[in-house]
Amino acid sequence: MADLDDVKEGKDFGLDTPVDVKAFGLRGSNALDWGMQDRLARIFQEKSGNTVMLAFDHGYFQGPATGLERLDLTIRPLVPYTDVMMCTRGGLRATMPADSRKPVVLRCSGGMSVLTELSNELVAVDIEDALRLNASAITTNVYVGAEYEHKSLSNLVKLIDTGNRYGVPTMAVTGVGKDMARDARYFGLASRISAELGAHIVKTYFVEEGFEKVVAGCPVPIVIAGGKKLPEIDALTMAYKAIDQGASGVDMGRNIFQSDSPVGMIKAVRAVVHDGETPEKALQIYEDEKARALSPA
Ligand code: 5RP
Repeated sequence: MADLDDVKEGKDFGLDTPVDVKAFGLRGSNALDWGMQDRLARIFQEKSGNTVMLAFDHGYFQGPATGLERLDLTIRPLVPYTDVMMCTRGGLRATMPADSRKPVVLRCSGGMSVLTELSNELVAVDIEDALRLNASAITTNVYVGAEYEHKSLSNLVKLIDTGNRYGVPTMAVTGVGKDMARDARYFGLASRISAELGAHIVKTYFVEEGFEKVVAGCPVPIVIAGGKKLPEIDALTMAYKAIDQGASGVDMGRNIFQSDSPVGMIKAVRAVVHDGETPEKALQIYEDEKARALSPA
């Protein structure tokens, strides 16, 4: 039975103080519902407003690619250093700790491989399973201009609509097929289409010319993929330029887990994304960690 003894009436309503309405600062997200904002706030860190996602979903179409042969050996040690795990449900369930407290951006598309047409994806995870895994966001690729453009956009719409029903944001990944342009015009088009369809985050690629316009033309946060493995200083410079030109973080895979010091590299990327460190200073963080690992005290 509810306890009704000594119920005290409220008396301090702070009548002289206007109700504090805290704006939700993330680009394009102010009008979202509480659960949606809560999930986005787990992804984008409060202090910098940015995120470092560790992408290790590549196996869903590439198989056991270099650095991802054993997720338990190569990726699990990196989990403490990332803000977000971006992965498939198979990789997550089989190899990642459930007590890491790291939010998950769940790859929810699949159905093709490196041997077939990349744009021919399907929605490969049901929203119920995404919720069971406590996903903080769900994600699929869009292939604008590719053979299965319509299907990939329809997958995105499906994710957005089901995610909206349960307060789960959707990240669109602007995929590039084998022979597709990789310039600001293309990524600007694909990013904007994704945002207009209702994506809450867009993942795209950094381009040297016109990246600022890609960001400016996209009303929701943009994170960049790392792309193929580059020398560490080049990857850090790319991340630096992307953040400087308005990106809200990285969703980086190969440039971290294929580095000769993955922990050093993710620490260096964090310094760029969260602390605005220059690529040179961040490289020193990577070098120091690499040296430390080679000669532990
Ligand atoms: C594939 C993806 C991958 O997660 C992403 O491209 C991987 O990151 P990186 O390019 O940095 O290895 O979304 O479509």
